[in-house]
Amino acid sequence: MQDHKISFTGTEDYIASKELQNSVNVAVALGRPLLIKGEPGTGKTMLAQSIADGLGKKLLIWNIKSTTKAKDGLYIYDTVQRLYDSQFGDHDVSDIRHYIKMGRLGEAFLASVQVVLLIDEIDKADLEFPNDLLWELDVMNFNIPETGETVHARHRPIVVITSNAEKELPDAFLRRCIFHYIAFPDAAMMSDIIAVHYPDLEQKLLDEALAAFYWLRGIGSLQKKPSTSELLDWVQALTVGGISPEQIGEELPFLGVLLKKDHDFTTVLQRLHNEGAQAKPASRFPHLR
Ligand SMILES: Nc1ncnc2c1ncn2[C@@H]1O[C@H](COP(=O)(O)OP(=O)(O)OP(=O)(O)O)[C@@H](O)[C@H]1O
Ligand SMILES: [Mg+2]
Repeated sequence: MQDHKISFTGTEDYIASKELQNSVNVAVALGRPLLIKGEPGTGKTMLAQSIADGLGKKLLIWNIKSTTKAKDGLYIYDTVQRLYDSQFGDHDVSDIRHYIKMGRLGEAFLASVQVVLLIDEIDKADLEFPNDLLWELDVMNFNIPETGETVHARHRPIVVITSNAEKELPDAFLRRCIFHYIAFPDAAMMSDIIAVHYPDLEQKLLDEALAAFYWLRGIGSLQKKPSTSELLDWVQALTVGGISPEQIGEELPFLGVLLKKDHDFTTVLQRLHNEGAQAKPASRFPHLR
Protein backbone atom coordinates (compact mmCIF):
# COMPACT_ATOMS: atom_id res chain seq x y z
CA MET A 1 0.00 0.00 0.00
CA GLN A 2 1.12 3.52 -0.74
CA ASP A 3 2.32 5.68 2.13
CA HIS A 4 0.08 8.76 2.19
CA LYS A 5 2.10 10.53 4.86
CA ILE A 6 5.04 11.36 2.64
CA SER A 7 5.06 14.98 1.61
CA PHE A 8 7.27 17.11 -0.56
CA THR A 9 8.79 20.30 0.83
CA GLY A 10 11.61 20.97 -1.65
CA THR A 11 15.18 19.77 -1.18
CA GLU A 12 18.53 21.19 -0.18
CA ASP A 13 19.28 22.11 -3.77
CA TYR A 14 15.78 23.04 -4.91
CA ILE A 15 13.60 25.82 -3.52
CA ALA A 16 9.90 25.11 -3.97
CA SER A 17 7.24 27.71 -3.15
CA LYS A 18 4.44 26.69 -0.78
CA GLU A 19 2.01 26.60 -3.74
CA LEU A 20 4.32 24.29 -5.69
CA GLN A 21 4.75 22.02 -2.67
CA ASN A 22 0.96 21.81 -2.37
CA SER A 23 0.50 20.98 -6.06
CA VAL A 24 3.09 18.21 -5.85
CA ASN A 25 1.52 16.74 -2.73
CA VAL A 26 -2.01 16.87 -4.15
CA ALA A 27 -0.87 15.17 -7.37
CA VAL A 28 0.90 12.44 -5.38
CA ALA A 29 -2.09 11.93 -3.07
CA LEU A 30 -4.59 11.75 -5.95
CA GLY A 31 -2.29 9.66 -8.15
CA ARG A 32 -2.67 12.18 -11.00
CA PRO A 33 0.05 13.37 -13.37
CA LEU A 34 1.45 16.77 -12.39
CA LEU A 35 1.65 19.10 -15.39
CA ILE A 36 4.24 21.84 -14.93
CA LYS A 37 4.47 24.93 -17.11
CA GLY A 38 6.58 28.03 -16.75
CA GLU A 39 9.16 30.18 -18.52
CA PRO A 40 12.28 28.36 -19.76
CA GLY A 41 14.85 27.97 -16.99
CA THR A 42 12.41 28.23 -14.08
CA GLY A 43 13.18 24.79 -12.69
CA LYS A 44 10.56 22.57 -14.33
CA THR A 45 12.92 19.71 -15.15
CA MET A 46 14.85 20.08 -11.88
CA LEU A 47 11.58 19.78 -9.96
CA ALA A 48 11.20 16.12 -10.94
CA GLN A 49 14.70 15.37 -9.62
CA SER A 50 13.88 17.24 -6.44
CA ILE A 51 10.62 15.30 -5.95
CA ALA A 52 12.51 12.05 -6.45
CA ASP A 53 15.26 13.08 -4.01
CA GLY A 54 12.80 14.54 -1.49
CA LEU A 55 10.61 11.44 -1.44
CA GLY A 56 13.53 9.03 -1.68
CA LYS A 57 12.50 7.55 -5.02
CA LYS A 58 14.27 6.75 -8.26
CA LEU A 59 13.77 9.12 -11.18
CA LEU A 60 13.12 7.86 -14.71
CA ILE A 61 13.38 10.49 -17.43
CA TRP A 62 11.57 10.30 -20.74
CA ASN A 63 12.85 13.14 -22.95
CA ILE A 64 10.31 13.97 -25.62
CA LYS A 65 11.46 14.92 -29.14
CA SER A 66 9.45 16.02 -32.16
CA THR A 67 9.57 12.46 -33.48
CA THR A 68 8.68 10.67 -30.21
CA LYS A 69 5.57 8.48 -30.36
CA ALA A 70 3.56 7.50 -27.30
CA LYS A 71 4.15 3.82 -28.04
CA ASP A 72 7.95 4.33 -27.66
CA GLY A 73 7.34 4.95 -23.97
CA LEU A 74 5.52 1.64 -23.54
CA TYR A 75 7.74 -0.87 -25.31
CA ILE A 76 9.75 -1.44 -28.47
CA TYR A 77 9.72 -4.68 -30.42
CA ASP A 78 13.26 -5.01 -31.74
CA THR A 79 12.57 -6.71 -35.05
CA VAL A 80 15.98 -5.79 -36.44
CA GLN A 81 17.80 -7.64 -33.66
CA ARG A 82 15.51 -10.62 -34.10
CA LEU A 83 16.20 -10.75 -37.82
CA TYR A 84 19.93 -10.43 -37.17
CA ASP A 85 19.86 -13.25 -34.60
CA SER A 86 17.87 -15.46 -36.92
CA GLN A 87 20.54 -15.14 -39.60
CA PHE A 88 23.79 -14.85 -37.66
CA GLY A 89 23.17 -15.79 -34.05
CA ASP A 90 22.53 -18.97 -32.17
CA HIS A 91 19.71 -17.45 -30.09
CA ASP A 92 16.21 -18.86 -29.85
CA VAL A 93 14.34 -16.35 -31.99
CA SER A 94 10.98 -18.06 -31.62
CA ASP A 95 10.37 -16.41 -28.25
CA ILE A 96 9.36 -12.86 -29.15
CA ARG A 97 9.51 -11.80 -25.49
CA HIS A 98 13.31 -11.64 -25.76
CA TYR A 99 12.93 -8.83 -28.27
CA ILE A 100 10.43 -6.73 -26.37
CA LYS A 101 12.23 -3.82 -24.64
CA MET A 102 10.40 -1.65 -22.18
CA GLY A 103 10.18 2.11 -22.81
CA ARG A 104 10.30 4.57 -19.91
CA LEU A 105 6.62 4.18 -19.00
CA GLY A 106 6.92 0.41 -19.22
CA GLU A 107 9.99 0.52 -16.97
CA ALA A 108 8.12 2.70 -14.47
CA PHE A 109 5.21 0.23 -14.46
CA LEU A 110 7.46 -2.76 -13.88
CA ALA A 111 9.63 -1.18 -11.17
CA SER A 112 9.44 -3.10 -7.91
CA VAL A 113 8.97 0.12 -5.93
CA GLN A 114 7.22 3.37 -6.78
CA VAL A 115 9.32 5.65 -9.01
CA VAL A 116 9.04 9.23 -10.26
CA LEU A 117 8.57 9.39 -14.03
CA LEU A 118 9.44 12.67 -15.75
CA ILE A 119 7.91 13.16 -19.19
CA ASP A 120 10.01 16.16 -20.17
CA GLU A 121 8.82 18.73 -22.72
CA ILE A 122 5.65 16.95 -23.83
CA ASP A 123 4.79 19.85 -26.14
CA LYS A 124 7.73 18.94 -28.41
CA ALA A 125 5.81 15.93 -29.76
CA ASP A 126 2.87 16.07 -32.15
CA LEU A 127 -0.66 16.80 -30.93
CA GLU A 128 -1.70 13.16 -30.87
CA PHE A 129 1.03 12.26 -28.38
CA PRO A 130 -0.71 13.34 -25.16
CA ASN A 131 -4.01 11.83 -26.31
CA ASP A 132 -2.28 8.57 -27.10
CA LEU A 133 -0.97 8.37 -23.54
CA LEU A 134 -4.29 9.08 -21.82
CA TRP A 135 -5.43 5.51 -21.56
CA GLU A 136 -2.18 4.11 -20.16
CA LEU A 137 -1.80 6.93 -17.63
CA ASP A 138 -5.39 6.43 -16.49
CA VAL A 139 -5.65 2.69 -16.17
CA MET A 140 -1.93 2.07 -15.59
CA ASN A 141 -1.63 -0.89 -17.90
CA PHE A 142 -1.00 -1.63 -21.57
CA ASN A 143 -1.08 -4.58 -23.94
CA ILE A 144 1.73 -6.02 -25.99
CA PRO A 145 -0.13 -7.52 -28.98
CA GLU A 146 3.03 -9.31 -30.24
CA THR A 147 3.15 -11.49 -27.12
CA GLY A 148 -0.44 -11.19 -25.95
CA GLU A 149 0.75 -9.97 -22.55
CA THR A 150 -0.60 -7.09 -20.49
CA VAL A 151 1.81 -5.01 -18.44
CA HIS A 152 0.22 -3.75 -15.21
CA ALA A 153 1.81 -1.06 -13.08
CA ARG A 154 3.01 -2.70 -9.88
CA HIS A 155 3.02 0.72 -8.25
CA ARG A 156 1.41 3.83 -9.74
CA PRO A 157 4.40 6.03 -10.64
CA ILE A 158 4.48 9.70 -9.65
CA VAL A 159 4.25 11.29 -13.09
CA VAL A 160 5.64 14.78 -13.69
CA ILE A 161 5.04 16.29 -17.13
CA THR A 162 6.69 19.53 -18.26
CA SER A 163 5.65 21.81 -21.07
CA ASN A 164 7.03 25.07 -22.44
CA ALA A 165 3.62 25.79 -23.95
CA GLU A 166 4.95 25.58 -27.51
CA LYS A 167 1.68 23.84 -28.33
CA GLU A 168 -1.64 23.78 -26.51
CA LEU A 169 -2.41 20.42 -24.93
CA PRO A 170 -5.73 18.70 -25.58
CA ASP A 171 -8.56 19.35 -23.08
CA ALA A 172 -9.10 15.65 -22.38
CA PHE A 173 -5.45 15.41 -21.34
CA LEU A 174 -5.53 18.57 -19.22
CA ARG A 175 -8.64 17.32 -17.41
CA ARG A 176 -6.69 14.38 -15.98
CA CYS A 177 -3.69 16.36 -14.73
CA ILE A 178 -3.01 18.56 -11.74
CA PHE A 179 -1.72 21.76 -13.26
CA HIS A 180 0.89 24.09 -11.83
CA TYR A 181 2.42 27.18 -13.40
CA ILE A 182 5.81 28.01 -11.87
CA ALA A 183 5.52 31.74 -11.33
CA PHE A 184 8.73 33.66 -11.90
CA PRO A 185 10.48 33.90 -8.49
CA ASP A 186 10.49 37.26 -6.73
CA ALA A 187 13.79 38.70 -5.50
CA ALA A 188 13.57 37.08 -2.04
CA MET A 189 12.98 33.61 -3.45
CA MET A 190 15.58 34.18 -6.14
CA SER A 191 18.16 35.01 -3.54
CA ASP A 192 17.34 31.70 -1.79
CA ILE A 193 17.72 29.88 -5.14
CA ILE A 194 21.10 31.52 -5.73
CA ALA A 195 22.14 30.68 -2.18
CA VAL A 196 21.61 26.94 -2.74
CA HIS A 197 23.90 27.09 -5.77
CA TYR A 198 26.43 29.64 -4.42
CA PRO A 199 26.27 29.57 -0.62
CA ASP A 200 29.42 31.67 -0.19
CA LEU A 201 28.44 34.53 -2.47
CA GLU A 202 29.18 37.98 -1.10
CA GLN A 203 25.91 39.70 -0.05
CA LYS A 204 26.72 42.98 -1.78
CA LEU A 205 27.49 41.24 -5.07
CA LEU A 206 24.24 39.28 -4.79
CA ASP A 207 22.22 42.47 -4.12
CA GLU A 208 23.77 44.29 -7.09
CA ALA A 209 23.33 41.30 -9.39
CA LEU A 210 19.67 40.89 -8.40
CA ALA A 211 19.00 44.62 -8.81
CA ALA A 212 20.51 44.57 -12.30
CA PHE A 213 18.73 41.36 -13.21
CA TYR A 214 15.24 42.56 -12.24
CA TRP A 215 15.93 45.93 -13.89
CA LEU A 216 16.70 44.02 -17.11
CA ARG A 217 13.60 41.86 -16.79
CA GLY A 218 11.53 45.00 -16.30
CA ILE A 219 12.42 46.29 -19.77
CA GLY A 220 9.17 45.57 -21.58
CA SER A 221 10.58 45.41 -25.09
CA LEU A 222 13.04 42.53 -24.55
CA GLN A 223 12.45 39.64 -26.93
CA LYS A 224 13.85 37.09 -24.48
CA LYS A 225 13.95 37.97 -20.83
CA PRO A 226 16.78 36.33 -18.88
CA SER A 227 15.58 33.61 -16.51
CA THR A 228 16.79 31.81 -13.40
CA SER A 229 19.25 29.62 -15.26
CA GLU A 230 20.83 32.65 -16.99
CA LEU A 231 21.06 34.50 -13.70
CA LEU A 232 22.84 31.52 -12.13
CA ASP A 233 25.29 31.45 -15.05
CA TRP A 234 25.80 35.20 -14.73
CA VAL A 235 26.54 34.98 -11.01
CA GLN A 236 29.11 32.33 -11.80
CA ALA A 237 30.63 34.50 -14.53
CA LEU A 238 30.80 37.48 -12.16
CA THR A 239 32.52 35.38 -9.53
CA VAL A 240 34.98 33.72 -11.89
CA GLY A 241 35.69 37.08 -13.55
CA GLY A 242 36.45 38.69 -10.17
CA ILE A 243 33.86 41.43 -10.73
CA SER A 244 33.23 43.81 -7.83
CA PRO A 245 29.68 44.85 -6.83
CA GLU A 246 30.44 48.40 -8.00
CA GLN A 247 31.45 47.20 -11.48
CA ILE A 248 28.01 45.65 -12.00
CA GLY A 249 26.40 49.08 -11.73
CA GLU A 250 29.08 50.69 -13.86
CA GLU A 251 29.30 48.40 -16.85
CA LEU A 252 26.88 45.44 -16.60
CA PRO A 253 29.65 42.91 -17.39
CA PHE A 254 29.17 39.67 -19.34
CA LEU A 255 25.84 40.80 -20.72
CA GLY A 256 25.99 37.97 -23.26
CA VAL A 257 25.36 35.49 -20.44
CA LEU A 258 22.00 37.15 -19.75
CA LEU A 259 20.85 38.30 -23.19
CA LYS A 260 20.70 36.05 -26.21
CA LYS A 261 19.21 38.32 -28.91
CA ASP A 262 20.93 41.11 -30.89
CA HIS A 263 17.82 43.24 -30.56
CA ASP A 264 17.90 42.95 -26.75
CA PHE A 265 21.56 43.96 -26.63
CA THR A 266 20.83 47.12 -28.59
CA THR A 267 17.80 47.93 -26.41
CA VAL A 268 19.72 47.49 -23.16
CA LEU A 269 22.82 49.37 -24.26
CA GLN A 270 20.61 52.23 -25.43
CA ARG A 271 18.83 52.28 -22.05
CA LEU A 272 22.11 52.25 -20.16
CA HIS A 273 23.39 55.07 -22.33
CA ASN A 274 20.26 57.21 -21.78
CA GLU A 275 19.92 56.52 -18.06
CA GLY A 276 23.66 56.74 -17.41
CA ALA A 277 23.51 60.45 -18.10
CA GLN A 278 21.22 60.98 -15.09
CA ALA A 279 22.16 58.26 -12.58
CA LYS A 280 25.34 57.66 -10.66
CA PRO A 281 26.67 54.25 -11.75
CA ALA A 282 26.47 52.65 -8.31
CA SER A 283 22.78 53.51 -7.93
CA ARG A 284 21.83 52.77 -11.50
CA PHE A 285 19.51 49.86 -10.73
CA PRO A 286 16.72 50.26 -8.18
CA HIS A 287 17.55 48.15 -5.16
CA LEU A 288 15.14 45.47 -4.14
CA ARG A 289 15.75 45.07 -0.45
N1 LIG B 1 13.58 26.71 -7.55
C1 LIG B 1 14.85 26.41 -7.87
N2 LIG B 1 15.72 25.99 -6.93
C2 LIG B 1 17.00 25.70 -7.26
N3 LIG B 1 17.50 25.80 -8.52
C3 LIG B 1 16.66 26.22 -9.50
C4 LIG B 1 15.30 26.55 -9.22
N4 LIG B 1 14.71 26.94 -10.38
C5 LIG B 1 15.65 26.86 -11.33
N5 LIG B 1 16.83 26.43 -10.81
C6 LIG B 1 18.09 26.18 -11.55
O1 LIG B 1 17.94 26.75 -12.83
C7 LIG B 1 18.47 25.88 -13.83
C8 LIG B 1 17.41 25.58 -14.86
O2 LIG B 1 16.45 24.70 -14.34
P1 LIG B 1 15.66 23.69 -15.26
O3 LIG B 1 16.53 23.11 -16.30
O4 LIG B 1 14.94 22.75 -14.37
O5 LIG B 1 14.61 24.68 -15.96
P2 LIG B 1 13.45 24.34 -16.97
O6 LIG B 1 12.25 25.09 -16.50
O7 LIG B 1 13.31 22.87 -17.14
O8 LIG B 1 14.00 25.01 -18.31
P3 LIG B 1 13.63 24.65 -19.83
O9 LIG B 1 12.22 25.12 -20.04
O10 LIG B 1 14.62 25.45 -20.62
O11 LIG B 1 13.79 23.17 -19.99
C9 LIG B 1 18.98 24.64 -13.12
O12 LIG B 1 20.37 24.76 -12.98
C10 LIG B 1 18.31 24.68 -11.77
O13 LIG B 1 19.17 24.13 -10.82
MG1 LIG C 1 13.56 21.63 -18.79
